[in-house]
Amino acid sequence: MVKLISVIAVSLCMTISSSALAVDPDLLRKCQLCHGKLLSGKKKNPPIAGMAYDDVLASLTTAIPKKMEKVAGKLTEEQKVDLSKYISGLGGQNDGDR
Ligand code: HEC
Repeated sequence: MVKLISVIAVSLCMTISSSALAVDPDLLRKCQLCHGKLLSGKKKNPPIAGMAYDDVLASLTTAIPKKMEKVAGKLTEEQKVDLSKYISGLGGQNDGDR
């Protein structure tokens, strides 16, 4: 019985993590505002799609650019992690199951 439950739990987790590549659109919209619709950069804002997970997370936590203090200040830790996973999974550098 326990085994069955853990099988269900594991497959549930896998379902969630593969759909973790869908971040709340409202959340993403904030980033798109500056970084462009595809997060491929816009004017003075650098492209961020496909950046390494750690680098995206750092930009939202420990090394926040001045221009992003306002937006980063409004995010929860969980949202920062979700966004970093999503963004690092865009374009090329997708290392799958993070
Ligand atoms: C108000 C405009 C603005 C918004 C909103 C914004 N950014 Fe930025 N972001 C910038 C600018 C400008 C830079 C470049 C800062 C610098 O180089 O000093 C930057 C840099 C970054 C970098 C580092 C890029 C690099 O090449 O090192 C990452 C990662 C990043 N932003 C992620 C995000 C994410 C994720 C969001 C959404 C939560 C977001 N940004 C929202 C303006 C913005």
